[in-house]
Amino acid sequence: VNSEKKQMLEAHELLQKFYHHLLVNTKEGQNALEYLVDRGFTLDSIEKFQIGYSLPSWDFVVKLLQKRGFSLSLMEKAGLIIQKENSDSYFDRFRNRIMFPIQNSKGETIAFAGRSIEKEDQPKYLNSPETELFNKSNVLYNFFRAKSFIKKQQQAILFEGFADVISADKAELYNGIATMGTSLTEQHVQLIRRMTDTIIICYDSDFAGTEAAYRAANMLTDHHCQIRIARMPEGFDPDEYIKKYGSEKFRQEIIAGSLTFMAFKMEYHRLGKKLQNEGEKLRYIEKIIEEITNLDKAVERDHYLRQLADEFSISLDALKQQQQQMYYAKK
Ligand code: CTP
Ligand code: MN
Ligand code: MN
Ligand code: MN
Ligand code: MN
Repeated sequence: VNSEKKQMLEAHELLQKFYHHLLVNTKEGQNALEYLVDRGFTLDSIEKFQIGYSLPSWDFVVKLLQKRGFSLSLMEKAGLIIQKENSDSYFDRFRNRIMFPIQNSKGETIAFAGRSIEKEDQPKYLNSPETELFNKSNVLYNFFRAKSFIKKQQQAILFEGFADVISADKAELYNGIATMGTSLTEQHVQLIRRMTDTIIICYDSDFAGTEAAYRAANMLTDHHCQIRIARMPEGFDPDEYIKKYGSEKFRQEIIAGSLTFMAFKMEYHRLGKKLQNEGEKLRYIEKIIEEITNLDKAVERDHYLRQLADEFSISLDALKQQQQQMYYAKK
């Protein structure tokens, strides 16, 4: 490690400790701590994930880093402070936010995400910029803690965000990782593939999460992964679900009850469709037959054709005939 990188890492470590201390031990952090506890974060989680709090100050971090002998221009490159335009003075990037440290695969803190406490404070999450240490497209939140569990259990659970991973951990699911809002990249997939080829996608059950889950599922399938997709009631994310229904129900119903990709597609393709409408129903059935045609295994094709036949009271023969037609049309 060159010495610039080393200093950047040291600064992250120092700030992580400070932010955490401010959250758990000081009067200044009390409001932030109450916010977290209200949301269902336990003190154990706050400790384990080294969650912190950044003061509303414009220069607390600047002064601290300066006092500890860090070069401010280097600290700007590390994304921790920002240089004022046309000036050689700096101010703190993160102010009055809940701080989530982000670690690389080795467990070194390389970035922060700061969550606003007040609704008016936008954006909801303010992240470190891309730096020499941090590239969002090859970092998965919690990967360094989860990797041994992922390997042992031969399964990873893929979430969208921080709170989801932390709530899952509270529910004793230690193999959770998150893409932090960005879409899954090739590099993320390579990282996971080193540990396992079995992934449960557990994105938010809202429109954006459903679309992202569909894309992630296709991508992982292209990379020869075995996937399932966990679905919650409309509008919930994993963290909210666990808060409302508890860990046990999350594990038993949402994770254990996760869908195969085909079952998810059957749900996905009917979103926004009015299946009581004859035309839409027929188009839906055709779409599903097309998806079934793409399945490799005859047993699976048979299974889903039967399911379709049952649901729409169509003869299995007719479905099979149409599926054969589609198959030959494709060849
Ligand atoms: N995200 C981000 N910047 C934003 C919004 C979201 O980087 N302005 C990332 C965060 O990593 C977040 C993830 O995308 O955890 C998922 O987004 P979202 O579902 O909107 O947030 P939650 O994780 O549900 O956040 P919270 O529970 O704290 O409201
Ligand atoms: Mn502590
Ligand atoms: Mn979301
Ligand atoms: Mn969410
Ligand atoms: Mn959430």
